Amino acid sequence: MAVHDLATPAVAWYDANARDLPWRSPDATPWGVLVSEVMLQQTPVSRVLPAWLDWMARWPTPSDLAADAPGEAIRAWGRLGYPRRALRLHECAVAIVASHGGEVPADVDELLRLPGIGAYTARAVAAFAYRQRHPVVDTNVRRLVARAVAGLPDAGPTTTARDLVAVADLLPTEPELAARTSVAFMELGALVCTARSPRCTDCPLVAVCEFRRSGAALPAGPTRRP
Ligand code: ADE
Repeated sequence: MAVHDLATPAVAWYDANARDLPWRSPDATPWGVLVSEVMLQQTPVSRVLPAWLDWMARWPTPSDLAADAPGEAIRAWGRLGYPRRALRLHECAVAIVASHGGEVPADVDELLRLPGIGAYTARAVAAFAYRQRHPVVDTNVRRLVARAVAGLPDAGPTTTARDLVAVADLLPTEPELAARTSVAFMELGALVCTARSPRCTDCPLVAVCEFRRSGAALPAGPTRRP
């Protein structure tokens, strides 16, 4: 299989088409990025956006949240779902204050030691807040890479070590560009290379996509448009 450069067209597309989300702004703090990633894990962007803005206005730093009662975090979580995440975020803030002087750590292993921070979130924070080169692989990225690189209609149900290697291999060496590539893959998977109705005519990877080249069709689904 040819190794194509997916990063260059993905980043160019991202720069022109990405949603303007506050946690992606250059002004976003590592804490803001961490909060966004925890909220976005099980809740869509449209519902996260107002909750994130309220949360960051009320607790702009880990110290602010750690100084408040855990029950306040649960209350502020509102209808985001899976409210245990609010408690874990509170515990995480307490640990950041206790062990890291109130600053979100930049190192993936240190991030992993924080309560409620799993492998995905640790890499996402290191990449998006600290502009490091790590594969950030969610469902959307797995699907994009399964199609574009492996020519498969979809990815497996969970992220495997092979997925991480496959995505890492696609990232440019330079860390800042690698971080932009990671968020570009995520956005392309969310907006264009969608599960049921991929918008291939709008996709910057169409010329190199193995699934497209193979001419295979997606399995028929109730809401699929050709
Ligand atoms: N930008 C950075 N991380 C994101 C995520 N998990 N979902 C949507 N947009 C993001």
